[in-house]
Amino acid sequence: MDFIQNMYVQAGLLILATMILAKIVSTLLCSGSSKNLPPMVSAWPIIGGLMKFLKGPIVMLREEYPKLGNVFTIKLLIKNVTFLIGPEVSQHFFKATESDLSQQEVYQFNVPTFGPGVVFDVDYSVRQEQFRFFTESLRVSKLKSYVDQMILEAEGYFAKWGEEGVVDLKYELEHLIILTASRCLLGREVRDQLFEDVSSLFHDLDSGMLPISVVFPYLPIPAHHRRDKARKKLAEIFTKIIQGRKQSGNVESDMLQSFIDSKYKDGRPTTESEVTGLLIAALFAGQHTSSITSTWTGAYLLSHKKYLSSVLEEQKDVKKRHGDKLDHDVLAEMDVLYRCIKEALRLHPPLIVLLRSNHRDFTVTAKDGKDYVIPKGHVVATSPAFSNRLPHIFKNPDTYDPDRFAPGREEDKVAGAFSYISFGGGRHGCLGEPFAYLQIKAIWTHLLRNFELELISPFPEIDWNAMVVGVKDKVMVRYRRRPLSVD
Ligand code: HEM
Ligand SMILES: *[C@@H]1O[C@H](CO)[C@@H](O)[C@H](O)[C@H]1NC(C)=O
Repeated sequence: MDFIQNMYVQAGLLILATMILAKIVSTLLCSGSSKNLPPMVSAWPIIGGLMKFLKGPIVMLREEYPKLGNVFTIKLLIKNVTFLIGPEVSQHFFKATESDLSQQEVYQFNVPTFGPGVVFDVDYSVRQEQFRFFTESLRVSKLKSYVDQMILEAEGYFAKWGEEGVVDLKYELEHLIILTASRCLLGREVRDQLFEDVSSLFHDLDSGMLPISVVFPYLPIPAHHRRDKARKKLAEIFTKIIQGRKQSGNVESDMLQSFIDSKYKDGRPTTESEVTGLLIAALFAGQHTSSITSTWTGAYLLSHKKYLSSVLEEQKDVKKRHGDKLDHDVLAEMDVLYRCIKEALRLHPPLIVLLRSNHRDFTVTAKDGKDYVIPKGHVVATSPAFSNRLPHIFKNPDTYDPDRFAPGREEDKVAGAFSYISFGGGRHGCLGEPFAYLQIKAIWTHLLRNFELELISPFPEIDWNAMVVGVKDKVMVRYRRRPLSVD
């Protein structure tokens, strides 16, 4: 009797234990599948999210971030876009492998502009090799010779200014940078002989990249038609130039040459069409971004006497050490000017939203301590323009204060990596960052040393409507040539 009772008790306990275990397992599993999704931006069904987004991503972020925190989702028609704001939640965005978070889908709209067989038109394994070509074409030994050409271009350009006068600095710097980019990237043939043709073709390529092109890159509109014609014509021009170089054995020290000489791992050289596409990609990555940044730098320096004095002081110091000699290594010593550019770029990153396509669920811990699962299928986004002004990272974030990057403060570092993301970071961080700084430093060194400048128009507004966000208004500046210094 006892024995049987015991058996029942034991069986009962066993069943109970099994049930408890089952319950624990199922809770664990359930909490895995009934995911804790990020809060959603509340909006009217179907087009509500889009309408909020169309006011501008930054307006939307300014409204939603205080309500929803630093991880939230907005529904744009058929896509959920999840924003990850601030360094606390940015690790995965910048470090994930291409198989987890990819660029190909979200940056696909560049394909008709860059052309076939390059960058977002090819598999990641090929793209990775092409990014290696970029890296090689921008290594220090190459940068040194680009810098010599940047300086020559600046000297030539500003020699055409008079003794004194008034200019639109935005227009001037845009044009100078097209010339410099032509020489350093596209090569001597384009800069010296084909400049007018090639820049008007690039203009058509540029005008063919509209906000609507991001969603419908092949929409049959005149702008796209002109873009496609220009792309074909550019291919013809570059094919001729490349064949010319190959036949004559002429070797130059520009990015074009670097791409011609590049080889894939299996020994295959680049084709003429690939070289053309890579050059177009480089120009799209580097031209507007740099010219906008040099204009903002000028607008801030000329409206902040304190920092204008400190960059002028630095120029004097550098001249004491090196005289009039100016090259890569001399520019590299200009830390004050560097911080002034970097701060203009913190306030005005030209790429205001970066995107990835999510292929695998991942979890982030938001600033409020909550864990959120970001599901596969979401587009994941971050925003340099918004993140660069977070007040818990950057003190008085709307104030121009280059010293925030100086030793002792280093606000871009104290809160961890990915606090300052004007150049992105991690796996896909900008490959042209050193090139961009050298170019902007070369231009401003020339201007500061040779001219007295005064901003005579109001401080410019931001042109939020451009694909590469820039300066909206003219930046009118009165200049006067400095007397030749005797020191
Ligand atoms: C002030 C100037 C510039 C700014 C603000 C800038 C910004 C950026 C940003 C934010 C990214 C990352 C995009 C992403 O994560 O989705 C990027 C990538 C890139 N940039 Fe720049 N850029 C500048 C100049 C240049 C120049 C001058 C070049 C080349 C000559 C260049 C070449 C590239 C390339 C090749 C990538 C792709 C890297 C990759 O995906 O692995 N950039 N840039
Ligand atoms: C977007 O997310 C919401 C809620 O998280 C979900 O109900 C909806 O199905 C998702 N839409 C798409 C297209 O993935």
